[in-house]
Amino acid sequence: MNRTVYVNGDYLPEDQAKVSVFDRAFLMADGVYEVTSVLGGKLIDFPGHLARLQRSLDALEIGNPHSDDDWLAIHREMVARNDLEDGMIYLQVSRGNPGDRDFAYPPADTPPTVVLFTQSKPGLADSAQAKTGMKVVTIPDIRWGRRDIKTVQLLYPSMGKMMAKKAGADDAWMVEDELVTEGTSNNAYIVKGGKIITRGLSTDILHGITRAAVLRFAREAQMEVEERPFTVEEAQSADEAFITSASAFVMPVVEIDGRALGEGKPGPVATRLREIYLDESRKAAI
Ligand code: PDD
Repeated sequence: MNRTVYVNGDYLPEDQAKVSVFDRAFLMADGVYEVTSVLGGKLIDFPGHLARLQRSLDALEIGNPHSDDDWLAIHREMVARNDLEDGMIYLQVSRGNPGDRDFAYPPADTPPTVVLFTQSKPGLADSAQAKTGMKVVTIPDIRWGRRDIKTVQLLYPSMGKMMAKKAGADDAWMVEDELVTEGTSNNAYIVKGGKIITRGLSTDILHGITRAAVLRFAREAQMEVEERPFTVEEAQSADEAFITSASAFVMPVVEIDGRALGEGKPGPVATRLREIYLDESRKAAI
């Protein structure tokens, strides 16, 4: 691949894009990120991603190096320079390079490290998996207590994804105190009697930008939504299940821990929500 990668103000060929070994993200996972999807060369749910970026930076007391207008200009430049039609833009801001390893934060005027790169996924919205649905297994949620901050501390989600693959599934749902928190990189939902059930917002889960949009569209379409946690058993006896994320949009789940849901096929609510989400967010894309 010969992508153009953004590093601290420069647009560079990917093999020349480098950060320091002393970068706080490398040594301490001291950085935050956002993933914005691109459809037809336009950014999906972009204001939501910028708002969450600010929230994550504030929680870690890292200064935001750019205004919203600058971030938009950089993202658009990345789309243009990489001829990105469908795919994702990954953005990372770390606490920067203090020039050494130290648990204490460096002085507040240490410039953050900013990196952006693109991932091209032609036909991202026409995923074959949306037609068959995905299988999940459940695993204990042993992550830290501030899952609402979108940090680059992704080792356990990555391990969870591998546990799912080894079990012949596509992803893992994490469970704490017998209640599902979320997927390794997505929010989790079930549907029972037409009602959409998903865990409410707290420090236990990431406040998904796709989640916010999907719940808004569901309510606008007069669908009933209940924000509360659910157990694995309740999920296994639900009519449908699905996940949401910036890269998967709305993706049906057809099997949980080897138990098929309903007829083992994507259900009508997940299918309809995927259509509404894709239609509405394409219209609002910038
Ligand atoms: N993951 N929960 C977790 C733990 C996530 O990592 C993500 C996103 C979500 C969904 O959030 P959103 O709808 O804003 O994408 C929920 C991204 C896509 C990733 O890490 O690639």
